[in-house]
Amino acid sequence: MSRAIGSRYTVETSPQAVEYLTAVEDVLDSEEVQDLKYFAHHHSTTRFQHCLNVSYYSFLLCRKLGFDARQAARAGMLHDLYHSSPKCTKEHLRNHPRIALENARNNFDLSDVEEDVILKHMWPIRKGRPSYPESYVVMFTDKYIALIEYCAYIKQSAKHTIKKHK
Ligand SMILES: [Fe+2]
Ligand SMILES: [Fe+2]
Repeated sequence: MSRAIGSRYTVETSPQAVEYLTAVEDVLDSEEVQDLKYFAHHHSTTRFQHCLNVSYYSFLLCRKLGFDARQAARAGMLHDLYHSSPKCTKEHLRNHPRIALENARNNFDLSDVEEDVILKHMWPIRKGRPSYPESYVVMFTDKYIALIEYCAYIKQSAKHTIKKHK
């Protein structure tokens, strides 16, 4: 069972479940993506969960806006496909989209849109403005989800600190 952050539904039981799972099935089931469960991301979650959050909400947004939800969902699931835990430096922020794209290319057939989504998701920190509406949706969704995940971390830390001082 997989649930995007803040969602009432598991991905498997959401009203759009069949459409979403059909879009991402091969990506979701792959060893490369499943292995993202072993890496922490934004302190409060795993990289797999982060990618699922970005993928699922990008899918819903693109569906609503009339963009290609399937490609956004697939690329959203692959946008942080790297298997290491580097420090969050400027260099990492700028370089990891290229690494994720190379890893994704090595394992999946990608469309031009999917490649653009993965490579441009860190704009404007990384040079290269998105070329497709789906890339903008994933780029904004990634930042919004990252903010929620960081807030969850701050909330957890604050609770921990309060408990320690009681
Ligand atoms: Fe990223
Ligand atoms: Fe991300």
